[in-house]
Amino acid sequence: MKKILLAVDGSETSLKAAEQAKKLAQAFGSEIVILSVAHEPELHIFTEGAFLPDIKEEQAKILKARIIACEKLAKSIAEENVEKGIKVDYKVREGRPSDEIIKEADQEPYDLIILGSRGLTGVKRFVLGTVSGKVANNSICSVMIVK
Ligand SMILES: Nc1ncnc2c1ncn2[C@@H]1O[C@H](COP(=O)(O)OP(=O)(O)OP(=O)(O)O)[C@@H](O)[C@H]1O
Ligand SMILES: [Mg+2]
Repeated sequence: MKKILLAVDGSETSLKAAEQAKKLAQAFGSEIVILSVAHEPELHIFTEGAFLPDIKEEQAKILKARIIACEKLAKSIAEENVEKGIKVDYKVREGRPSDEIIKEADQEPYDLIILGSRGLTGVKRFVLGTVSGKVANNSICSVMIVK
């Protein structure tokens, strides 16, 4: 268990996942990479009188704000790990969260991906969110889904 990928969106469940990652890293001497994905802004339906350049500018602003929020979140979790003497790094990617988590896991030799079962946006009655579901289904490495 050398390298763990921890995916966080700031939800309560993802913070629980972060706690589990910390415990595993301490037990196995693993390195943790924290990943927070800034979701690319949704393409909104044109509203009357809105110009495409305005929409593009608005979307760029939204993305920038999301990147800043992701960086803040990932950094604060990284700092908690540093305090415990864990080797840690953090990354922010832009795009669709499930795709970016899977891509990151394909590019580096991770032994485990840890994420929460649910996140910020979903409907409570479902057991898994789309991100945890897609990562579990499509990732080549082992996945731990924390409830
Ligand atoms: N943008 C993200 N960046 C990094 N990890 C994420 C991101 N979004 C979700 N995750 C990870 O996936 C876990 C499950 O979240 P998910 O988004 O699948 O559930 P949800 O928000 O309840 O539902 P949905 O997004 O399908 O509406 C989170 O606890 C977190 O660990
Ligand atoms: Mg979500």
